[in-house]
Amino acid sequence: MQDRKISLTGIKPSGTPHVGNFLGMIAPALELAKTYNAYYFIADYHALTTVRDGNEMRRLSYDLTATFLALGMNPDEVVFFRQSDIPEIFELTWILSCFTSKGLLNRAHAYKDSTAKNEAAGNDPDFGVNAGLFNYPVLMAADILLYGSHVVPVGQDQKQHIEITRDIASAVNHAYGEEIFVIPEGVIQETVATIPGLDGRKMSKSYDNVIPIFAPSKQLRQRVMQVVTDSRPMEEPKNPDEDNVYNIFKYFATPEQTQAMREKYLRGGFGYGEVKQELFEVIEARFGEAREKYNKYLADTKYLEAILMEGAKKARYQGSKVMKKARRAVGVRFKREVLVES
Ligand code: ADP
Ligand code: TRP
Repeated sequence: MQDRKISLTGIKPSGTPHVGNFLGMIAPALELAKTYNAYYFIADYHALTTVRDGNEMRRLSYDLTATFLALGMNPDEVVFFRQSDIPEIFELTWILSCFTSKGLLNRAHAYKDSTAKNEAAGNDPDFGVNAGLFNYPVLMAADILLYGSHVVPVGQDQKQHIEITRDIASAVNHAYGEEIFVIPEGVIQETVATIPGLDGRKMSKSYDNVIPIFAPSKQLRQRVMQVVTDSRPMEEPKNPDEDNVYNIFKYFATPEQTQAMREKYLRGGFGYGEVKQELFEVIEARFGEAREKYNKYLADTKYLEAILMEGAKKARYQGSKVMKKARRAVGVRFKREVLVES
């Protein structure tokens, strides 16, 4: 690979990839491959905090691989791999845990949300919370730090995890007085920070309000027709910025189409069926061709597996450099390293 800075991001195989994932993370991450050495991985061990069906985990991991390929990722130019194929990640997670104050993890949003919900329901705060959920940010820090990543493109909701990673990396660097880890920067697309779902809340698989990127055309249309709109009379002018159809449309339409749509809302006198049809058409135009590629890739798991194995090889090579520094600093050595040196 060229001598450039590293951009890295991960996505959990915990649901069918949706338009929110595409705009908030996949598209910006693919764009960064033009200027950085790009690393993308499937965070399957992160998904294990919730996905408890091995076949489903495998299926969703292949689904993501096919999705990235269909959306234009060139596997020869980037490093695309599966987290679970990199054993060093788990070794590094332990090292980092020993430098992570428990209080920092107590304050992580996902954990805090769970305890707050339990408290509101009158349960023990940790009821149903597994230690994987609690330690999630440390595993994520290892994902980022192992390769010396400089930038990490993510959606707004991941901002805190990047800050935690920076804190942990600084703590280790400070403890040993040397730069073992690169301190990474989060890259958050402010304009598409949170894509709304069918019901106007953040599009998320947890809310079952998503528009899947590669749903078959008919299903895609059905989903779009389910976007929640208000029930005011057709004739009334409407504020486009408060409307869910418009707020998704604008990300797929040309500036001219967006302007025309705005004017339509401000004038009033249109039906929601009509604007939903337009929304369906712009999404279909964006993903229709890629969907055919996606279906082809998905049918060839041998090829997908080969891509992942090749990616893991490249990622481990890069990771071994940082691991060597980290092991030396903490005072452990692999036999292999001793043999090489003696
Ligand atoms: P979900 O919320 O559906 O569970 P994930 O948490 O797996 O999605 O997110 C994967 C990536 O996609 C993250 O970088 C996240 O910030 C981004 N992302 C997810 N949903 C949205 C959204 N509605 N708008 C923008 N980015 C999103
Ligand atoms: N936590 C991220 C999410 O839920 C996924 C993830 C895991 C990740 N490890 C990462 C993202 C490292 C960026 C870098 O979306």
